[in-house]
Amino acid sequence: MLNLGVNVDHIATVRQARRAELPSPLEGARLAEAAGAWGITAHLREDRRHIQDADIEALARTVRRLNMEMAVTDEMVAIACRVRPHSSCLVPEKRAELTTEGGLDVAGARERVGAAIAALHGAGIVVSCFVDPEERQLAAAAELGSEYVELHTGAYANASGAERVRELDRLKAAAKFAASLGLRVNAGHGIDYRNIDGILEIPGLNELNIGHSIIGRAIMVGMERAVGEMLTLMKAYRLGNQQA
Ligand code: PXP
Repeated sequence: MLNLGVNVDHIATVRQARRAELPSPLEGARLAEAAGAWGITAHLREDRRHIQDADIEALARTVRRLNMEMAVTDEMVAIACRVRPHSSCLVPEKRAELTTEGGLDVAGARERVGAAIAALHGAGIVVSCFVDPEERQLAAAAELGSEYVELHTGAYANASGAERVRELDRLKAAAKFAASLGLRVNAGHGIDYRNIDGILEIPGLNELNIGHSIIGRAIMVGMERAVGEMLTLMKAYRLGNQQA
């Protein structure tokens, strides 16, 4: 069965735009679980632009399976080992990026990534490495003992025409190669309601991690109800004034 992990980062993005209390990624996570999400993903970034430390702690305490996306830094490893999410997905992180750009260079940073994986395993956390669909990255992730890899689907999502077909072929080949190394294979980044059909052709996938498109869609499908609820409150005020 193919599982869905819902990334709730952008609920926090909306909240942080006003440094307000709402909307709550925790409440969003509960609703996503109730709707059938297998897991919840959240990325505690070094710059804390969306998810905050308190969010990660609350999510780890309450959701069924928290997948904590994190950079390979001492700070993040220490937080994960304390909070103990179900799994950690190691990602590259650059301060100026809008979102995670490119996969983690596991092959080029074996020592650092290996030490992080060992520490996370020591805390009982399952590890995934977010990598581009390249054999050397997959081989390095397997060598270092990562149980999962998450294939970066961004290049496929951003491509069109023949290039998109080529990117999808790369993902399919990478998924097969990863499985041959004993890795379990997830995929994520840029997956939306229009490009999911190609993603579903990738063999042997375990989980898709999807954030931006689902949160964006939730805003749209929730708009009618949200406006209706405010109008109901306003109507009650008008009625009250008429009676006064
Ligand atoms: N997987 C990883 C490793 C990511 O960094 C992200 C973005 O936070 C996602 C999945 C979700 O990507 P999107 O928000 O484009 O669905």
